[in-house]
Amino acid sequence: MRWRNLAIFTVAGVALAGLVIIPPAESAAEPAADLEAFEGLPEGPGREAVYFNCTACHSIKQVNQQRMPREEWDQLLDTMVEENGMHPMQPWARTYVLNYLATHFGPADEEDWDGLPPGKGREEVYYACQACHSLAIVKQQGLSREWWDDTLTWMVEEQNMAELDEEDRALVLEYLSTHYGPDSVNR
Ligand code: HEC
Ligand code: HEC
Repeated sequence: MRWRNLAIFTVAGVALAGLVIIPPAESAAEPAADLEAFEGLPEGPGREAVYFNCTACHSIKQVNQQRMPREEWDQLLDTMVEENGMHPMQPWARTYVLNYLATHFGPADEEDWDGLPPGKGREEVYYACQACHSLAIVKQQGLSREWWDDTLTWMVEEQNMAELDEEDRALVLEYLSTHYGPDSVNR
């Protein structure tokens, strides 16, 4: 049954790929990038990449009805390639897709935030920092805003952290200096 599904999906995928290659009859206007066009996928960096990569084979519902932590999305992307015939993405594109999935379709429960207290920016901190190391490294600090600011720059410049966009960086910095400042009670 699974194999038959796979065959059907693959044929659909090939047909779609063909459609993409055939140039449109009239030069295409910029498509409306609204919620309707993306079947309700929330706005954010990576939305287009997720939508177009993942709907090549199946409904977006296969994706947006899931909730799981980053590591499981990571594994799922491998599964799509290894078992379901998805074309491997460029590493940068894969990271983009993974960030989007982990940010918008991550676990919803409080206890899944690894002890980070609730607050604006928690999600951003969680996904930006636990990509490489335990959040314990973050939670044991009590740093001034300047130190957190420098730490973020250091993570990007020396430790290969993907640069956060301006809005996310501001949220992360605000969250860290609020909850893990010099006299924070969360430590
Ligand atoms: C080349 C085809 C193909 C592409 C592209 C593809 N998938 Fe899939 N996907 C499948 C098939 C086939 C299944 C059904 C597998 C099965 O029957 O268990 C599936 C199932 C899934 C499931 C359900 C898995 C489960 O355990 O029930 C999820 C979630 C999923 N895909 C996510 C994605 C995401 C996210 C992307 C885009 C990054 C993607 N898929 C792109 C072929 C594809
Ligand atoms: C791409 C990987 C990566 C990401 C993402 C990352 N870090 Fe790090 N981080 C590291 C590495 C590697 C070290 C250890 C560096 C060392 O000790 O030389 C580290 C160490 C740290 C330390 C300990 C510094 C010390 O004094 O020992 C802090 C604090 C820290 N990271 C904060 C963060 C925060 C906050 C985030 C999220 C906004 C983050 N990191 C995201 C790789 C990363």
